[in-house]
Amino acid sequence: MEISQALLARYKDVVAPAIYRYTDLTFVRGEGVYLYDADGRRYLDFSAGIATMAVGHQHPRVVEAVIRQAQRLFHAAAHIGVMEPYVALLEKVRSLAPGRLKDGKGVLLNSGSEAVEAALKLARYVTGRPLIIAFQHAFHGRPMGALAATASNALFRRRLSGLAVGVYHVPYPTPRAPFGRSPEERGQIVLELIEEALRTVLPPEDVAGILVEPILGEGGYFVPPPGFLEGLRALCDRYGFLFIADEVQTGLGRTGRWFAVEHWGVEPDILILGKALGGGLPLGAVLARRELADAWDPGAHGSTFGGNPLACQAGLATIAIIEEEGLLARARQIGAYLRERFEEACSSLPIIGDVRGLGLMLGVELIDPDTGKPAAAHIGEIVRAISQAGVVITKCGEATLRVVPPLILTQEQADEGVEIILNTLRGWRIR
Ligand SMILES: Cc1ncc(COP(=O)(O)O)c(C=O)c1O
Repeated sequence: MEISQALLARYKDVVAPAIYRYTDLTFVRGEGVYLYDADGRRYLDFSAGIATMAVGHQHPRVVEAVIRQAQRLFHAAAHIGVMEPYVALLEKVRSLAPGRLKDGKGVLLNSGSEAVEAALKLARYVTGRPLIIAFQHAFHGRPMGALAATASNALFRRRLSGLAVGVYHVPYPTPRAPFGRSPEERGQIVLELIEEALRTVLPPEDVAGILVEPILGEGGYFVPPPGFLEGLRALCDRYGFLFIADEVQTGLGRTGRWFAVEHWGVEPDILILGKALGGGLPLGAVLARRELADAWDPGAHGSTFGGNPLACQAGLATIAIIEEEGLLARARQIGAYLRERFEEACSSLPIIGDVRGLGLMLGVELIDPDTGKPAAAHIGEIVRAISQAGVVITKCGEATLRVVPPLILTQEQADEGVEIILNTLRGWRIR
């Protein structure tokens, strides 16, 4: 591990500690579902660059698409003129989108959080209303506007209170919420809390929209209760709010559908994408109903690099591969298999408290078997140990292993990963 150690030392010397790092691993090469460190050691990648690399690392078709574009044009800027890959990517995303978004219009940005910011600006601009409803435990990004909506960890806001965007946070109906006896009841209570807020502190005519992750991501991979997203949609319809779906993490096949909202048949007014969209290059998108997008006047938003041709080509190739290789079905099938394997392990491994998620967006919650509480004090070390043992993994929520491999994962590779994870957990002592 000499080269890795030297690289780590250089990193620590020059990179500010603000960038939290789950592991001390180094990465110099990727291939399919595997990453390789500076000393040639191979790791199975269950993190996919934080739920990004949908078709795996260095997929030959993505590489080829990027090289072809690199030989033609790196950058000219959407503000200066028209670039075909920008147009083609939005056309493609629109064709996959639910409901009236199929006829929508959008813009391309450089990241998920930039896309969140653009969506919030669009919602405020076209409604003329200043406030947004968002959820505790949600994650929408770190720049100031997106951060105003983020509520997954108070640490992210430390010394930054008083953020400019007006966001009213309500609880997300997770089983950890201190109310409700069933998932459905919790969902109903949150809908009632919103109604109560609208009667007391939140004038409906000041609310532009509801910003929601269809599955809580960073907050712990909680799937919403039946009826909840539908209830939010109904609230939006009743009060003229825009339904803004943050599908940065859930979008483009991760949950076994192109978009997670499809699991509940809910149609957003504004859809936010990132992560997988750029196939590993920086890219984000906002797609809105046509009449909303058309009311967003020229100059209301912009970006020098947004929708750069290299990232668009990587995204187009990625989407084509997801389609042609049937990766939505694969995500459902391998996701179900992985889930089953972890659920089976629950009986012999009391440290596993819960297995949840959809498709290949799976959370394996670790608990202290004595108290039943999330093993928050141990999760950092467990993540490091699993990664050292050969499966690169991260966490979400308080103590949930975040299982988000590339959608190309085979059953054999799934088994390989599960064995390494379970072996590490088997040897773990909470006390
Ligand atoms: C749901 C969601 N929204 C927004 C973001 C921010 O995206 P980015 O880190 O690309 O800015 C993330 C990142 O994890 C996310 O999971």
